Amino acid sequence: MLVFLAGGAGYIGSHTAVELQNSGHDIVIADNYSNSSPEVIKRISELTHRDVAAYEADVCDKAAMLRIMTAHRIDCVMHFAGLKAVGESVKKPLAYYRNNIDATLTLLECMQKCDIHSIVFSSSATVYGEENPYPYVETMPRGRCSNPYGWTKSMMEQILEDAARADPRLSVVLLRYFNPIGAHQSGLLGEDPQGVPNNLMPYVAQVAVGRRDHLTIFGHDYPTPDGTCRRDYIHVMDLAAGHVRAVEYAAEHKGTAVFNLGTGMPYSVLDIVTAFERNSGVRVRYEFGPRREGDLPEFWADADKARKILGWSASRNLDDMCRDSWNWQKRNPAGYKTGCL
Ligand code: NAD
Ligand code: UFG
Repeated sequence: MLVFLAGGAGYIGSHTAVELQNSGHDIVIADNYSNSSPEVIKRISELTHRDVAAYEADVCDKAAMLRIMTAHRIDCVMHFAGLKAVGESVKKPLAYYRNNIDATLTLLECMQKCDIHSIVFSSSATVYGEENPYPYVETMPRGRCSNPYGWTKSMMEQILEDAARADPRLSVVLLRYFNPIGAHQSGLLGEDPQGVPNNLMPYVAQVAVGRRDHLTIFGHDYPTPDGTCRRDYIHVMDLAAGHVRAVEYAAEHKGTAVFNLGTGMPYSVLDIVTAFERNSGVRVRYEFGPRREGDLPEFWADADKARKILGWSASRNLDDMCRDSWNWQKRNPAGYKTGCL
C-alpha cells in the first residue's frame, strides 16, 4: 500500500515510516518541519535503503495537499501532524485549535476530493480525561480534558467519527497512544524536542548526556506505590508496528475503530530513572519538586482490543526502551543538529 504520512518527519511518524517500508509498504511524507528536521528524511532513507518522497508543506495548505494527493496513488493517510506540548497549549490555545483542527479538516476534505477512503489518526490517552477509572478501555466515553491540546484530540476524534458516519466508504482508525519513549535501535532516529523537553524521557536522557543539570520530579506525594506518578510507557518501535497493523486493518474495514496502543503495565517516574541508570551506566541527578498542574496520579491501557483485533501487542520492555533512548541520545547529543558522533 502507499501511505501518506502527514507530519511524518516527527518522532512517531519517522519511526513508523521505517516500519512501513520494512513491511513492504511505500510512503510519501509531508511536513512543515515546525517540530522536526529535513535530516530525518535522509536518515529514514539510510535505514531503509530506499528513496523517500518527501514534501516540505503545511498540512493546513489545501492546495499543497491536493497537489500531493493527486501526484501519488495514495491508499491511506496517517495523520501525525499536530502541535503537542500540553503546557504551551494552555498559553496559546488558538494556535493549537487552528493548527490541529485545521490540519484534520483539510486532510479529510482533500481525501474526499481525491477518493482516498482510509485514515489512521494519532490520538492520545489524554481523551479519557480525568473521570474514567484505569485501566482505560476503548468502550469508555471520552472525558473532560485538562488542557486545550487534549481537547483538540477529543474534537478531532469527533470530527473523524462524524465524517465516517456520513460517508460509508470511509475507514477511520483512532489510535490512542499512551506514553511513547525509546528510539530506533540504530540510534539514527529518536526524539528531538525543541528547547526544554516537556516529557520525562527526553529530559532524563538530556540530563544523562550533560545537556541539563538535573531532573525535577513533579510530586512525590501521589497515592502510588512510591509516591511518583505512574504511566504506561511504550517503545516507539512497538507503536510503529501497531500503525502497520492499523493501516492493514483500515484497508479491510469501514466506519470508525478505536484502539489503545499501550503495554498495560504502569511504571513510576522513579522506576524510569532507575531503569535508565541501569541501562546507561550513567547517574541521573534529580530533585523532587511540586506537582505539575493537570497531571493525573496514574493511568494505563487495557491493551486487549489491539491484541485480539489487530493481532498486535508490545514486545519491548522498559530496559529496551531506556537502552534505545540512551543509544539515540549519546550518539546525537544535540539531536539532529549535529549528525551522528
Ligand atoms: P512531533 O512533533 O515529533 O511530530 C509531529 C510532526 O508534525 C512534526 O514533524 C511537525 O513538524 C509536524 N507538523 C505539525 N503541524 C504541522 C502542519 N500544520 N503541517 C505539516 N506538518 C506539521 O510529535 P510526535 O510525538 O511524533 O507526535 C505525533 C502525533 O502523535 C501528534 O499528533 C501528537 O499529538 C500525537 N501524540 C503524541 C504523543 C507523544 O507523547 N509523543 C502521545 C499521544 C499522541
Ligand atoms: N515528569 C517529571 N518531570 C519532568 C517531566 C515529566 O516528573 O521533567 C513526570 C510527569 O509529572 C508525569 C510523568 O513524568 O508524571 C510523565 O510525564 P510526560 O510529560 O512524559 O507525559 P504525560 O503522561 O504527562 O503526557 C504524555 C504526552 C501527552 C499525552 C499523554 C497521554 O505528553 O501528549 O502522555 O498519552 F496526552
